[in-house]
Amino acid sequence: MTQDELKDAVAKAAIDEIKPHLERSTVIGVGTGSTANRFIDYLARLSGDFKGAVASSAASAERLKTHGIDVFELNEVGTVPFYIDGADEVNAHLHMIKGGGAALTREKIVAACAERFICIADASKYVAQLGRFPLPVEVIPMARSYVARQLVKLGADPVYREGVVTDNGNQIIDCYDFMIEDAEAMEAKINAIVGVVTNGLFAARGADVLLLGKKEGVERTA
Ligand code: A5P
Repeated sequence: MTQDELKDAVAKAAIDEIKPHLERSTVIGVGTGSTANRFIDYLARLSGDFKGAVASSAASAERLKTHGIDVFELNEVGTVPFYIDGADEVNAHLHMIKGGGAALTREKIVAACAERFICIADASKYVAQLGRFPLPVEVIPMARSYVARQLVKLGADPVYREGVVTDNGNQIIDCYDFMIEDAEAMEAKINAIVGVVTNGLFAARGADVLLLGKKEGVERTA
């Protein structure tokens, strides 16, 4: 099976996971990226079975709307029963690195408001230790150099993701050569640097369910 087919399989599996719980009043949290896009495409087939979605990026909001799915502001909705999103890396604790698509802050906010975070990923994303994928950090633009110096002190090799502006008007620094021992502690440490909006470690609020696409089938871990 190709990586695209595995992404497709986990997107479908996420639909099966949430379908029995949908009500006409349900608003679903929807993530960002190529795997989340497939989920959106399948979700569109259930229109009428739920109320709408909260999106973690302008791109996902656009895709939802294109399918005729109503998009709500998180502040209107408060909480969502499910948040479905991909990951750049995920480990056995269901901790993740996210933000390859620069949507990490909104993703973390929607995840924080979700009763259940369902991570959908193909097998290439599963790792024993987080950190091979460069860890994204969203920064307030004027703090970029300062934050980069602090990240060096933590052991990272920070690289400015040139030309990228987040949906929040901020910039991204990617931390290379930065294997993570204690994801929860490192998430808190980086978030404590002045000028950091958030970082792409999702450990304090990891996933509740992982649907991992393998060639033998979709493996569910909860
Ligand atoms: C977006 O900022 C990311 O967190 C994505 O969720 C992550 O990069 C996974 O994307 P793919 O599903 O495209 O691999």
